[in-house]
Amino acid sequence: MLSNCALRPLRRCLPDTNHPTCFNYLPTRLLAFSRSLCIAHSMEAWTIDGYGSNDVLELSNVPLPKLQKSTDVLIRVRAASVNPIDYRMRSGYGQTLLNLWRKAEKVDEFPLILGRDFSGEVLKTGRLARRFEKGDEVWGTPSVISGGTHAEVVVASQDEISIKPSIWTHQEAASLPYVACTVWTALISRAGLKPNECHKKRQLLKAWGAYVVSTCSSDAVELVAGLGADHVVDYTASNLEDELKTVGSFDVVLDPFGGDLGRQYARLLSKWKGSIFVTLAPPVLNNTDKLGAGLGLLSAGQNLASTAIPEALCSGNLVSWGFFSPNGSALDHICSLCLSGMIKPIVQEVFPFSKTKDAYAKLEGGHARGKIVVSMDPVDATGEEPSV
Ligand SMILES: NC(=O)c1ccc[n+]([C@@H]2O[C@H](COP(=O)([O-])OP(=O)(O)OC[C@H]3O[C@@H](n4cnc5c(N)ncnc54)[C@H](OP(=O)(O)O)[C@@H]3O)[C@@H](O)[C@H]2O)c1
Repeated sequence: MLSNCALRPLRRCLPDTNHPTCFNYLPTRLLAFSRSLCIAHSMEAWTIDGYGSNDVLELSNVPLPKLQKSTDVLIRVRAASVNPIDYRMRSGYGQTLLNLWRKAEKVDEFPLILGRDFSGEVLKTGRLARRFEKGDEVWGTPSVISGGTHAEVVVASQDEISIKPSIWTHQEAASLPYVACTVWTALISRAGLKPNECHKKRQLLKAWGAYVVSTCSSDAVELVAGLGADHVVDYTASNLEDELKTVGSFDVVLDPFGGDLGRQYARLLSKWKGSIFVTLAPPVLNNTDKLGAGLGLLSAGQNLASTAIPEALCSGNLVSWGFFSPNGSALDHICSLCLSGMIKPIVQEVFPFSKTKDAYAKLEGGHARGKIVVSMDPVDATGEEPSV
């Protein structure tokens, strides 16, 4: 009977939450013992055992993750967002380089749990994870080869997490860590922007006072302008480059998509002022998947040289690839901006954990107008978050 219970989903077994336990009929001492066994054994997670379409995603019972290092923290996930990296990794994107990394860290490839960020509660801390204690409400982004967050429990290093903004629900908070850490790497680590060199307003760059020009589809102009962009341009317009030129030249261009549009944007940098073009669409992972690690890296470098250099480097500017990187201290800073109202969450739809597959399909369908979030807590029938 105990082993059966140990295979029951953790969500129904956790002892210190609102969840009903699956052991209500057991005597108290046996109950405590069986609960600890249950926590030590299994949880529900969305896993894949091979790469492919959404059909490969399965809700499975898997062993509970363990603290690997003394600075690790075990976290009960309350909500997680779905990002393009999730459906891309589900389809095999990045497997060549990620497998080299997994091999070095002695991590199995399958079953693979996707999901790159979360908001949740600390269940347990490693001996040296002194920044946090049991019960803390945290948000964060475990490293790409750690277990994913589309699971009931995840392990992250204390450097990858931070106390979540107290004024936000878990569903709101889960919408931000992955994108925030990506933008942080791109703008701070790569483009070298500094908070105290700007003035004030809203959303990360606006919060530091930069003049922000953003592109989006025509039906998203109002949304993006409402977030504080000083100038919004419809990227589907035929005169995009001319329209952007009327705004002036740029010190930093952040390009999420690459391709021809990326090249147009690179031409808009101010010349001979050390301006920087950061692309979030480097060909590295695609090329290494197609050509293997060595040739793939060479061809990605060659691609950078042949596309971006004529546009940017020949005008005295810099070009950089931007990659997501977990960063607990960045999240500390972002949290303070959230608390002062400078950054706000835009959640398009919340799916219950049991419908995570639908959440992937929704995001993969394109044209997002906010974040797609999965929640371990009840979600009302409209998919909107319960008001708190
Ligand atoms: N390198 C990294 O580590 C990293 C990390 C995070 C994200 N990324 C990349 O950054 C991109 C954006 O990520 P996301 O999470 O925001 O994706 P998302 O949730 O799928 O949203 C993409 C949004 O951009 C709009 N869009 C599409 N093409 C555009 C363009 N050329 N100019 C302006 N808006 C455009 C889409 O709407 P419409 O199609 O209706 O216009 C949609 O609203 C993805 O390609 C992702 O792979 C890279």
